[in-house]
Amino acid sequence: MPLEPANELRQLVAELGQWMRYQRRLGRLGVEQEEPAPPPAKAPVVPLFPTLAEIREELGDCQRCKLARGRTHIVFGQGSRRADIMFIGEGPGEEEDLQGLPFVGAAGGLLNKMLNKLGLPREEVYIANIVKCRPPGNRDPESDEVNSCLPFLKKQIESIRPKVIITLGRVATRCLLGTQAPLTRLRGQWQRYKKIQVMPTFHPSYLIRFPQERWKTWEDMQQVMEFLARHEDN
Ligand code: URA
Repeated sequence: MPLEPANELRQLVAELGQWMRYQRRLGRLGVEQEEPAPPPAKAPVVPLFPTLAEIREELGDCQRCKLARGRTHIVFGQGSRRADIMFIGEGPGEEEDLQGLPFVGAAGGLLNKMLNKLGLPREEVYIANIVKCRPPGNRDPESDEVNSCLPFLKKQIESIRPKVIITLGRVATRCLLGTQAPLTRLRGQWQRYKKIQVMPTFHPSYLIRFPQERWKTWEDMQQVMEFLARHEDN
């Protein structure tokens, strides 16, 4: 008696299963195992910006400008690579040239005092200069010297990505912001370098000569601290 179509189909499937098991036992039929799919390729983690160590390496025993001839040490910069605040001065003086560290002379003494007053450990900020080698007699760095050196400072800024940059004095402010505006107009007024807030203020050497002006820089620093307090989590 013919089977119902549904039963016939069930029987066929059962027989096919039996046949396949038999063939498999004989080794004639292997169910092709699909190659396990490779895990999705992770994009290699390429840091967006070079590290400070890589920038220092690229700088090498720099001979890109004439300041190299008179220097004792390159003053690359000092501080935390995660600093929220970056101070930028003009260029190393005599003591900085000897030690290879920024702001370790008289101006550095005053900067340290300000940091103490603000409750900012020096090792938590980052300190650098527009040029990394001492201009002879502490003259202003010349434009060819700034042009050779500034790209390295800019890379340091990109690497650290501070929340605020404080430019110390006319040279640092003008060179970083690419302006000829007088410091007296810029000081105490928020500026921008790329997307970073910049607070121009007086250079500590100027404040040593004109202590009656210190309160202005103190006010500028207060603005910075208030800004940071408001942007603590970002
Ligand atoms: N003055 C600067 O501008 N930078 C230093 O590092 C020291 C003194």
